[in-house]
Amino acid sequence: MTIIACYSNKGGVGKTAVSVNLAYAVAAAGQRVLLCDLDPQGASSFYFRIKPSGKLTEESFFKKEEKFAKAIRESDYPGLDVLPSNTSFKDFDTFLAGVGNSRSRLKKTLKAAGSDYDVILLDCPPNISLLSQNVFAASDAVLVPIIPTTLSERTFEQLVDLFKDSDLPLKTLHGFFSMAQSVKSLHNETMEALRRSYPERILETVIPFASDVERMGVHRAPVLATAPNSASARAYRALHAELMQRIDAGG
Ligand SMILES: Nc1ncnc2c1ncn2[C@@H]1O[C@H](COP(=O)(O)OP(=O)(O)O)[C@@H](O)[C@H]1O
Ligand SMILES: [Mg+2]
Repeated sequence: MTIIACYSNKGGVGKTAVSVNLAYAVAAAGQRVLLCDLDPQGASSFYFRIKPSGKLTEESFFKKEEKFAKAIRESDYPGLDVLPSNTSFKDFDTFLAGVGNSRSRLKKTLKAAGSDYDVILLDCPPNISLLSQNVFAASDAVLVPIIPTTLSERTFEQLVDLFKDSDLPLKTLHGFFSMAQSVKSLHNETMEALRRSYPERILETVIPFASDVERMGVHRAPVLATAPNSASARAYRALHAELMQRIDAGG
């Protein structure tokens, strides 16, 4: 089983958009995938037309495998299941702080309750917390969308520093440029500078700014399903292939 987190400390950078499309791409490639919507705002559950689960408390999420398994829902796409978001997910941190082995809880839960899946994707909320420590410890790959502007660049640099300071394996960190606009010179300059600073840590694939992706909210479906021949769908498929190749090659 491969665990991939879509993570950034910043909101609105494309974590949910990449989670939803990557989940679709994995399933389309014939693998079984579980998308866990860990953000209490529930955007990826919304895109897959799945209602938030009402009953999964933090306690049953982390401690009771059968309750976790029962909360999983099938999506409209074969091989693609979703663990819908839940308002109690906002209290993960308080809960984690109160239990032992608090950094490896999520990994244990996913290994036990998600063993039927080839890939587990985590759509993460934007913060640095005990939950994100759990996400880093559980994940074979941490996929980080970077809008090529100064603030997103800083966020990525801070994340690299956090990995170094916390002795987390840098090879699990994979940044990619999200919502890139090649007509903007700032975007092109930022992409060039970051690739120079982190030649090994940024994927080649760039996800362009595209209205097809914005329209996912209207269609409530991945852009790979509604506009499979669009530039953004091609980019998400390329991102999936590149990321899997990197994970297989060990980072
Ligand atoms: N490649 C893209 N092109 C255009 N708009 C995008 C793209 N990716 C995401 N968006 C839009 O930007 C907003 C934030 O994206 P989202 O994936 O929800 O970010 P996050 O999960 O990081 O908060 C959403 O309105 C989404 O539709
Ligand atoms: Mg999101």
